[in-house]
Amino acid sequence: TDNGQSLLKPLTSDVAIIAHRGASAYGPEHTLAAYKQAMTMKADYVEFDLQMTKDGELIAMHDETLARTTNAKELYPDRAPWRVKDFTLDEINRLDAGSWFNKAYPDQAKQAYIGQKVPTLEEAIKFVKQHGNGKASLYIETKAPNVYPGMEERLIEILKKTNVLDDEKLLLQSFSEDSLRKLHNLVPHVKLIQLYNASMLKGKDVYQEMKRISDYASGVGPSKELVVPKLMEAAHQNKLHVHPYTVNSKHDMVSLLSLGVDGLFTNFPDQFENLLDKP
Ligand code: G3P
Ligand code: CA
Repeated sequence: TDNGQSLLKPLTSDVAIIAHRGASAYGPEHTLAAYKQAMTMKADYVEFDLQMTKDGELIAMHDETLARTTNAKELYPDRAPWRVKDFTLDEINRLDAGSWFNKAYPDQAKQAYIGQKVPTLEEAIKFVKQHGNGKASLYIETKAPNVYPGMEERLIEILKKTNVLDDEKLLLQSFSEDSLRKLHNLVPHVKLIQLYNASMLKGKDVYQEMKRISDYASGVGPSKELVVPKLMEAAHQNKLHVHPYTVNSKHDMVSLLSLGVDGLFTNFPDQFENLLDKP
């Protein structure tokens, strides 16, 4: 079987390299330094997670708190649990989002990471457009949208302001179906990716589920363990692309490619690039 591959019109001419939080194996996640490395490694996409500040600004950050990836605990010791939604952008701008990485990964540490800032979504988009040589595109996730009312509207405003809303390769992603449906209503032409963790598919007929979501989504982002021939077939028969996360070993990259995935999220974009032998 060809896993339904022939039914599929690819998003790009080949398999997409998606740099997860930037080239986050080599630099502090969600800093301009890590995004730069992703683009140097020829990633097709830079992946962003979004959180929203107290004053309604979208920033690129994975966690709902500032504790793991910044020095917020030292700078604001009495502000536990350091939730993003309790800090203004001005306060977040004072944080160092790079030094933690040097301590955690001394093998990859660089002087240049010290003092890296938390980027706003707008800064991150402008940076990728400026340094991406017309190749790197944006793959943006609404995180915890239930915690941040208005997140989708604000995201669309920024995409408009930075002139990327009509970028053909632009992808928006979420675990939240509500958030994706909201985006689909706001900007029906933009491609959306429904993310899945294992519990979201438990007990479901995968074909029916893929059929159901193809109503608003143009692809799925399953946790890599969920990618089996049955899911591949169900997705491709419903014209959905498949982008598993987060794939960091060469072994997993090879086996997922042989199953017919259309791209993958990785912290090591260079390793995937080497396997693909892209032009
Ligand atoms: O967005 C794909 C993947 O990144 C989902 O997991 O927790 O790394 O955002 P997470
Ligand atoms: Ca993500």
